Parts: sequence; structure tokens; C-alpha cells
Amino acid sequence: GHFCGGTLISPEWVLTAKHCLEKSSSPSSYKVILGAHEEYHLGEGVQEIDVSKLFKEPSEADIALLKLSSPAIITDKVIPACLPTPNYVVADRTACYITGWGETKGTYGAGLLKEARLPVIENKVCNRYEYLGGKVSPNELCAGHLAGGIDSCQGDSGGPLVCFEKDKYILQGVTSWGLGCALPNKPGVYVRVSRFVTWIEEIMRRN
Ligand code: ARG
Repeated sequence: GHFCGGTLISPEWVLTAKHCLEKSSSPSSYKVILGAHEEYHLGEGVQEIDVSKLFKEPSEADIALLKLSSPAIITDKVIPACLPTPNYVVADRTACYITGWGETKGTYGAGLLKEARLPVIENKVCNRYEYLGGKVSPNELCAGHLAGGIDSCQGDSGGPLVCFEKDKYILQGVTSWGLGCALPNKPGVYVRVSRFVTWIEEIMRRN
């Protein structure tokens, strides 16, 4: 069954969270579902592809790459996301979007893919004592509503945080962790993809 999200970044590669791969180090334990909207009814245009290799980021970052056993067919429902330029810093208050089949107050989104709009909160603000109190590293970014109520949650990990920039959506974050879900003053934390673009491109080029 579904337990994490991911983002297609080229026909053969999916970016996800490293903690999503804790259950097994064998690629054959995982399968990627592309182009689905309903979790329990994979409709038309859905592609199910096996994973041939796992690549975990070698430092402590919660990010990993999956190589697919065959390339995804690019369609109107299965389209890779763009990567940011290396070390790009998303500005405070930029509107971004998260998606997933994760937890929504005990119903796991009723099996339908959910989307939410969240503003980015710059690290300096997010690390204030009353928010995440210094727990957020420069390799991560915060996004959320300080009032609470809208957030990613269990099961959304590994999935995308995309931000519209000029004329397209760019994958700026990978859903990683939070203190509870949707609590006031506790925004969600996302791996800052721009810090890992060089690693991502290197792995893709060599494999
Ligand atoms: N760690 C969670 C997962 O494995 C994602 C948590 C995100 N939490 C949050 N409050 N934004 O699915």
C-alpha cells in the first residue's frame, strides 16, 4: 500500500525522502505509482513501475533518488517537475503547493489526492524560539500557516512542495517532518531541493 510520496524529475528518476526507504534497502520492495488521483482505484493513464536502484543522500539530509526499472511515458498526467537552480533560496512568503494522500484528521484524505497552498517561512523566522526553535537546518525550508490548520502530515513525506516561479512550477521542497501536524506556530519542514541539485544531477549522470 501507499506510505510515502515522491516526484518524477525525469522519465527514469523519482525524488523522495530518505526516511521513506527505512523499511527495506532492497529496490524490489518498492513500486512507484504515477498519474493517480484515487489511492484505491488506479484509473486510466496510471503507470505502475518497479524501482531498480535506490540512492540515499550520503549526509544527513532526508532526500533520496529512485531509479525506475523502465522509463515513465510522459503524458498529460505524468509529467516531470523542474529542479531549481543550485542553492536558490525561496523568498519569505512565496506561495507554494504541497500534495499527497497523507493523514487528514483520521481519514487519510479519503483516498483522494489533496493539495494545499502554503507560504514559505524564511529560516530565520522559522527558527525563532516560539516556532521551530533552531531545529531547521540551512538544507531545509519551512512552509505553513502559523495559525495552524493546513499542513502536510504522515503519509505525505517524500512528496513535492512546488512553487510557481516566472512561468512554471519548480520543485523546491521534499516533504520531510513536522512537530505534530497543522498545529499553530509549528510549520512543516521540507528538504531544500536547491541544495541537492548538484548531487541529484551527478547521480543521474553516472547511473
Ligand atoms: N514525516 C511525515 C511522513 O513520514 C511527514 C510529516 C510532515 N509533517 C508536517 N507536520 N508537515 O509522512
